[in-house]
Amino acid sequence: MGQEQARIFHPRPEWLPAAHVPSLSQYERLYQRSVEDPHAFWGDIAKEFYWKTPYTGPFLNYNFDVTKGKVFIEWMKGATTNICYNVLDRNVNEKKLGDKIAFYWEGNEPEDSMKITYKELLHKVCQFANVLRSQGVKKEDRVSIYMPMILELVVAMLACARIGALHTIVFAGFSADSLCERIIDGGCCLLVTADAFYRGDKLINLKQIADEALQKCKDRGCPLKKCIVVKHLGREELAVAGTCSKSPPLKRLCHDVQGKQTESSQRFHPKIPWTPGRDMWWHEVMSGASTDCEPEWCDSEDKLFILYTSGSTGKPKGVLHTVGGYMLFAATSFKYVFDYQPEDVYWCTADIGWITGHSYVTYGPLANGATSVIFEGVPTYPDVGRMWSIVDKYKVTKFYTAPTAIRLLMKHGEEPVRKHSRKSLKVLGSVGEPINPEAWLWYYRVVGEERCPIVDTFWQTETGGHMLTPLPGATPLKPGSAAFPFFGVVPAILNESGEELEGEAEGYLVFKQPWPGMMRTLYGNHPHFEATYFKKFPGYYVTGDGCKRDKDGYYWITGRIDDMLNISGHLLSTSEVESALLEHPAVSESAVVSHPHSLKGECLYCFVSLRVGYEFTKSLEDELRKQVRDKIGPIATPDYIQYAPGLPKTRSGKITRRILRKIARDDHDLGDTSTLADPSIIDQLFSNRCNTKQ
Ligand code: WT7
Repeated sequence: MGQEQARIFHPRPEWLPAAHVPSLSQYERLYQRSVEDPHAFWGDIAKEFYWKTPYTGPFLNYNFDVTKGKVFIEWMKGATTNICYNVLDRNVNEKKLGDKIAFYWEGNEPEDSMKITYKELLHKVCQFANVLRSQGVKKEDRVSIYMPMILELVVAMLACARIGALHTIVFAGFSADSLCERIIDGGCCLLVTADAFYRGDKLINLKQIADEALQKCKDRGCPLKKCIVVKHLGREELAVAGTCSKSPPLKRLCHDVQGKQTESSQRFHPKIPWTPGRDMWWHEVMSGASTDCEPEWCDSEDKLFILYTSGSTGKPKGVLHTVGGYMLFAATSFKYVFDYQPEDVYWCTADIGWITGHSYVTYGPLANGATSVIFEGVPTYPDVGRMWSIVDKYKVTKFYTAPTAIRLLMKHGEEPVRKHSRKSLKVLGSVGEPINPEAWLWYYRVVGEERCPIVDTFWQTETGGHMLTPLPGATPLKPGSAAFPFFGVVPAILNESGEELEGEAEGYLVFKQPWPGMMRTLYGNHPHFEATYFKKFPGYYVTGDGCKRDKDGYYWITGRIDDMLNISGHLLSTSEVESALLEHPAVSESAVVSHPHSLKGECLYCFVSLRVGYEFTKSLEDELRKQVRDKIGPIATPDYIQYAPGLPKTRSGKITRRILRKIARDDHDLGDTSTLADPSIIDQLFSNRCNTKQ
């Protein structure tokens, strides 16, 4: 590590006067209280929220030890509340924030924008909640949401929460197969989607993909019978027809069918496939719906949402979060980690389809009455300065993005950044994967002009909110380290035999006691929940990440230690990709390993063996690539596919991915190969390697 990278960046005096936690010693005091007396710490925070009825049982009740019985976690069970009421009605009625902007919406095209106040958002949410109720959606029913980054996505999710239905949001970059699988696993009764949208200059016919998914669902006997469709790309028609005076027409969307920009002023409208009786337009069902809607009062431990994340078995896991604990944790982590102040304009670039968008686009910021930006587009469209032009347009003060985005922009140099003022920025955040010190320093120097602390936040879909993170006014920063545990979080590092390591150490990152925002189960599969997170080391929640603690107690995430890989901040399991490849008739065997990538962090390197009668050609390679895209989605597109006449296996037939990883990297230091059934395969595989120079 270079000298620069080993430097410690101390909080600057000018950050401190307003900071919620202005010193390390204050952080330590608050932290001690949070872990030694969770009831007192979280109980005080709970008082800031609205509860219909107070809790009756113990504040926290749990078992983390599988050997002693069922694993369970309950915070404030018996208390009743509603999270939608807390993030909207409470702000409008109690805090008088009705006229404050909740969201600035920035469309894909720089000219397209809208804004919505807390009061307007509340009204829309009530209307849509009434629509859902009139469609027969009840408490505990599951509603699937497959939408671009538009305000209706927030409206739909909060409407579900208002009536006690579970939202299960599927990122709009996922394929029809992925959507179908999630709808079936969740037993969803209704789908909310949109006509189509642009990501950069690429047109996505979302309704068409949703229809394919619904057809697959039907073929598999799934009972989902209703689909509500937002006319998003077609907003202009609505405005012209006067149906929807509120939303201004989207401008300048002139693209041809291939998605290329055209000279013509004629906008391209894809044909929206429609199934009468099943499909309904959002604006039609909303018109006339009442803006009053009594919330469903839910138990603190009632289910709030399911969000699917990749599992190492290849089947996505339905991570389940509940109402009360998640609400406290998302709200509190947002407030402290971004050091939220009422005048902030906050922007998290994550899609709501990921947990970051759930906790830090929707619930966390709204619970604090914050003003946020929601962005529909991509960082490079229409040019690589787009992020900074948005920062200047809305005077963004707190900015939260992923290392992959930083590395992408870094590649384009400093000039597109420096062209914009960025002087409103106060805190920068990073999430999704380890941030390499080089990218950290660029973010700090170039983007933040050495003015803004960087909060590198380590957490997971499963944890609901930040677990390891610096606090802007308190923590001296080390580039590449997620620093210290957040309030209520007790990390430990274990060795292979499950012993806790003290001081400087490296091993498995685990958590020793529950925090309010943690997942409660995997939807419909509690045994799998226990087996995945609690079995390896009874008594601990196991993250699946490796971790180092340095002499100053800073935590450094070293990456996944299971069969998972992290592409551009999104987890994917190697077996998920292997099964997609195996569905192709030409493939007899496949093995997928992670490979380093300068922008994405990691990428996919696939080995495939073929059935007799097939030949490994360029066109087969393209087909396989398409197969994986179609099956999972564009983020899973393999970078490398290598023909493997055979795969290295142990005598019991287990593929040794450890060796394949080395072959992919052209690393001949293979260690012990004596356990292999046929070591001669190795030389062949080295000579067939793909060219991995980027
Ligand atoms: C995995 C969780 C949490 C929202 C986005 C991803 C990796 C996440 C960091 C970080 C190092 C990180 C871990 C983790 N990860 N943030 N700041 N430093 N690694 O959610 O898809 O559930 O992925 O992302 O490996 O286990 P997710």
